[in-house]
This record gives sequence, C-alpha cells and structure tokens, in this order.
Amino acid sequence: MDKFNIAIDGPAGAGKSTIARLVAGALGFIYVDTGAMYRAVTWKVQQEGLLPDQETEVAALAERMQIELVPGEEGQQVYVDGVDVTKAIRTTAITDHVSQIASYGAIRQLLVALQKQMAISKGVVMDGRDIGTHVMPDAEIKVFLTASVKERAERRFKEMQNNGTCTLTLSELEQDIARRDQLDQNREISPLRRAHDAVLMDSTSMTIEEVVDEILGLCKNKVGGGK
Ligand code: DC
Repeated sequence: MDKFNIAIDGPAGAGKSTIARLVAGALGFIYVDTGAMYRAVTWKVQQEGLLPDQETEVAALAERMQIELVPGEEGQQVYVDGVDVTKAIRTTAITDHVSQIASYGAIRQLLVALQKQMAISKGVVMDGRDIGTHVMPDAEIKVFLTASVKERAERRFKEMQNNGTCTLTLSELEQDIARRDQLDQNREISPLRRAHDAVLMDSTSMTIEEVVDEILGLCKNKVGGGK
C-alpha cells in the first residue's frame, strides 16, 4: 500500500485528536496535531511576558523559537526550545488566548510552512482547522469532523474531570467552545471551513470506534489502504 495523507478538520472538542491518533496508529502513519503548534507559540508568548495582542513582537518571537513534535506512546509530545510543554499547553491559561495568536497572518504563514514540510513524505494524519483547505489541499482523504456544541462541551467536561484539570462548569465550557467556534470561523485568514471535497462526519451520536472505522473505510475505498 502506498502512503497517503489524511486531513481531519473541525471545531474544538469534536474529537479530532483522539480519532486522528487512532487512525494514524491503525495505518502506521504519523499523527500531527497542528493545534499544539499554535498552543506552543501561545505558551512561549506567556513565558516571555508578552501580551497576546503585541502582534509584531509575537511574530518575531515565533520566528526565533523551535517547536518539536515527537510521536510517543501516549500521543504527540511537544517541545519548545527543548522544554517539554506537552501538558502545559493544555491549561486554560493557554486555551483562553490561543485563538487570538492563531489569527495572526505571520504566525499562520510560519506554522503552515512547517506543517507542509511534515506532509511531504506522505503517511501523515494531520488535524486542525485549515488542513484540508490550506495545509494539505491535495490530501487523498479529507474529513470534516463536527458534533453539537452541547456534546463537545460534555466530552471536554468528562475528559477534564478524569484528568483532574476541571476548573470550569459545564455551562462555562459550553460558552467557551461557542466563543472559540466564533473566533475560528470568523477570522480573516484561513477560517475554519469544510473543504469542498471533505467528507462531513457528525460524531454527536457516534462512538470513537465508529468514527475511526468510518475513516478507515474511506481509506480502503479511496486508496486501497486501511481495514
Ligand atoms: O485544536 P486546538 O484546540 O488545540 O487548537 C488550538 C487553537 O489553534 C484553536 O483556537 C484553533 C487554532 N488552530 C488553527 O487555527 N489552525 C489549526 N490548523 C489548528 C488549530
């Protein structure tokens, strides 16, 4: 089976990361979580004491920093200038500001170039917001994964309760997800959009396994890969 690329886009909390990781595992492909790269820049901005709205300084800092994504057993490990930030980039302090950082053209240009580089050799499952539209417009498989705001908030709530990082109520989480949807869908550069050739999957009443199986089925039908 020849290698091919899979783009998985969709709003926050639709289950993209879990599903992309499982699909990559099943195919022996590399999983790339591009949201982690925008989070890594946001982390560095905070470390350096910059404010998220200092766009020029933020862009200059992003040029200087080094982001490494290392595939691991437990998912992708993220390093910024050699420091393991895998957990730190998931805190609400980062989540609150990452959409603003991700709206800057200079930041997107920089990170999209890195992401394109990672996809060159194929065999990549990449998740994000603009993967099917901008990063890998020629990906063999494109999926736009969504779920209702309520369902996405409930999933995040359970996940945060399970790993003891829950600092928000369910209704606060619902508001936060709706706010991030707004920001991601309405930003000027590369807004969250379904690519015209992406398969729409609504996972509101689907299990993780069902979504993974459906994507592997698409792979089999389209490119002769997968199950
Ligand atoms: O998927 P996530 O929640 O980790 O993404 C963090 C932020 O980065 C979110 O506001 C959307 C943005 N993002 C983006 O603009 N483009 C991507 N390819 C991935 C994420």
